[in-house]
Amino acid sequence: MPPALLHGVLNVGSINEDRVYRVHSIARPGETVCGLEYRVFAGGKGANQSVALARAGARVRHVGKVGNGGAWLRDKLAGCGVGVRHVTVADAPTGHAVIQVDASGENSIVLFPGTNHQITADERRQALDGAAPGDWLLLQNEVNDIPDLMAMGRERGLRIVLNPAPMTTPVRAYPLELADLLILNETEGEALTGEGEPSRLLDALRRRLPAATIVLTLGAAGARVAERDGDASPVATPHVQATDTTGAGDTFVGYCLALLIEGRTPVEAARYACRAAALSVTRPGAMDSIPRRDEVESWIPPLRSPVV
Ligand code: RIB
Repeated sequence: MPPALLHGVLNVGSINEDRVYRVHSIARPGETVCGLEYRVFAGGKGANQSVALARAGARVRHVGKVGNGGAWLRDKLAGCGVGVRHVTVADAPTGHAVIQVDASGENSIVLFPGTNHQITADERRQALDGAAPGDWLLLQNEVNDIPDLMAMGRERGLRIVLNPAPMTTPVRAYPLELADLLILNETEGEALTGEGEPSRLLDALRRRLPAATIVLTLGAAGARVAERDGDASPVATPHVQATDTTGAGDTFVGYCLALLIEGRTPVEAARYACRAAALSVTRPGAMDSIPRRDEVESWIPPLRSPVV
């Protein structure tokens, strides 16, 4: 089907300024570490996932809010091919993240929600009223009123994909059963089920969400895909030397959803998304590290290389 006829994505999500400090090792409680490099990037799980969708070729409109000094983030989203008509500007601090990235590419993040937590009921309603039944509503956990958004999406016949990141205690009480697709990592899955082992974790989620497709990401171990009525299928990922893992999960979510909308099976979509995410961790930054579709297509992963 040509892209114009495929269903689109409405992504109600965070937009952050990422203040990134490269460090030898991430500061422990009570410790002071010296930054080796400081850079400012565009980020936010929501915004990153919108860009990943657009770079994968999907039609995506972002719903969110930036504050003082945040107009460049909206412009950047627009420049990446994301619809920004529902990105508003308020006289308040823009959401931002203070991120340490260590020598192995691992990160530690302090998040300040700012305007991401100031999306009004009217703004939600206006945006969702513009979506057509069958379109996808994509949500993470960095904006306010997620349960309300899920209920509104369901009322309008939208298909709901939830990425419950970052995990917080209230997520346990979210109406997860309204999700058609749940994409989460092991930490998030364990917080929801109390199970740390992937098979048991997926079994527990399937009991709670029998109608949903569940994609469990496992970092360097790839992913597991559990479809309704099917076994959980393992998906491998290329092994690469990580420069910065920030945004890898967002790259995965955007690519996985874009490929599903194109009609690929969940396993095929997850396999492609693993490849895109692996390529993203070889680059610095969050949004800036997300590869374009043609880069993923032409990328030849290293044959023998260290595990991420
Ligand atoms: O997933 C990575 C993102 O998490 C960063 O861009 C940061 O803004 C936080 O929201």
